[in-house]
Amino acid sequence: MSELKILKQEVITCTKCPLSKTRNKPVFGNGNPNATIMIIAEAPGYYEDQSGVVFQGKSGELLDKVLAASGFNRKEHIYISNIVKCRPPNNRPPNDTEKTTCLPYLYKQIELIDPKIIILLGATALKSLVDPNAKISQIRGQWIDWKNRLVLPTYHPSALLRNPKLKRPVWEDIKKVVAKYRELINPDHYAAYC
Ligand code: URA
Ligand code: SF4
Repeated sequence: MSELKILKQEVITCTKCPLSKTRNKPVFGNGNPNATIMIIAEAPGYYEDQSGVVFQGKSGELLDKVLAASGFNRKEHIYISNIVKCRPPNNRPPNDTEKTTCLPYLYKQIELIDPKIIILLGATALKSLVDPNAKISQIRGQWIDWKNRLVLPTYHPSALLRNPKLKRPVWEDIKKVVAKYRELINPDHYAAYC
């Protein structure tokens, strides 16, 4: 069994924080384990908790559309996971204890997948990984050198669903990812819209 699969087994039986009592299914992460791009968001929501798969429902559909427009898909180019692996009740943001308890799994996951580029979706991912005082509206679209990896924060798809005006800045940010992907990974990468 691969190290990533062993880690997944640990996560899906984890009872280290109180979210284990209210979750239905833990959501470890999905995508290509050899992906060069990793996407990190906040926490599973209702549909993810039901299915055990990241980014289902409306946010997932929107994310897939953005990825498709940039020539990426989840199976080939991307691995997606969250700051916490179990759904917080009523989709509240995960609290400090939950984040601190769960983060070592994510760190290990990042190490094993070893992506060149990490996209952080939303304030929780940005604050938990980079800087608790960082503001997503100020930092989004800027490359951050984080533990020898390139990290780009942008808005979470659920924020776009609430406020369609954020679609334009997210698209600007995603264009930067495509440019970086061409520079570092595949100069011939085809994207219909950039
Ligand atoms: N929102 C998240 O932050 N993560 C998911 O997996 C789904 C929705
Ligand atoms: Fe374990 Fe993380 Fe789930 Fe808490 S959220 S029970 S630490 S896997």
